[in-house]
Amino acid sequence: MYKILTKKQLNPDVYLYEIEAKAISKKVQPGQFIILRVDEFGERLPLTIADYNADKGSVTIIVQAIGASTIKLSHLNEGDFIQDIVGPLGKATEFEDAKHVCVVGGGVGTAIAYPSAKFLSQNHVKVDMIAGFRNTDMIILENEMKVIANHCMIMTDDGSNGNKGFVTDALNKMMEENKYDLVIAIGPIPMMRAICECTRPKQIKTIVSLNPIMIDGTGMCGGCRVTVDGKTKFACVDGPDFDGHLVDFNNLVERNRMYKEEEGHQCRLSKE
Ligand code: FES
Repeated sequence: MYKILTKKQLNPDVYLYEIEAKAISKKVQPGQFIILRVDEFGERLPLTIADYNADKGSVTIIVQAIGASTIKLSHLNEGDFIQDIVGPLGKATEFEDAKHVCVVGGGVGTAIAYPSAKFLSQNHVKVDMIAGFRNTDMIILENEMKVIANHCMIMTDDGSNGNKGFVTDALNKMMEENKYDLVIAIGPIPMMRAICECTRPKQIKTIVSLNPIMIDGTGMCGGCRVTVDGKTKFACVDGPDFDGHLVDFNNLVERNRMYKEEEGHQCRLSKE
């Protein structure tokens, strides 16, 4: 059992949990993830690690309460226990000796993008950040991003923070003013796909973090298979990061839709 040390609500739907997980905290690297089960009947929930503290023996996850299991998780509080956690899983992000990187986060994906930006900044890489949210109330990690980024642009769909537009608008503008050798994009699939189409003509390498359905997280079940450069890959062991210009996003969307009906049913039960 894994104890919840800290719980914070970052916006109406998003929660930060710091969880005691000594062994994982000593091994984890940016980009890796865990799979947890909230209780013994819970589904296996893959979540990218947002932060870790090896001295304290803790890992931090940031979760949007949007599906059956994440809603169940959102009902747990400090001092409660999570049934089990496996990890760290997946490959660490490869930053490829980049000198100037633009990190783009969409919605709760910002929670996964931010640790990569922080890691790069701590390793003396020039980092700009762009993050996009529906409105001001949904913005997370604003102060944290501003501290580590050379330049930070926060966009909202409705303009309620004074910066109306999509992350692609911001990226196109920032690419006119800067010469990036790497872009990292993490967020909803349409956003990652759109970012890749912005960077493709300029041939800027673009890493995306994929979120297919996962079950075992060890490359055995095939649930997380994605098509990259025409080849089948398993996001849990070959990723979750991939070269976005080579990802078959249509295939990813189709596979993620497969269990929508069951998920909706479970969601309704969790809310009752
Ligand atoms: Fe089973 Fe990746 S989750 S192969």
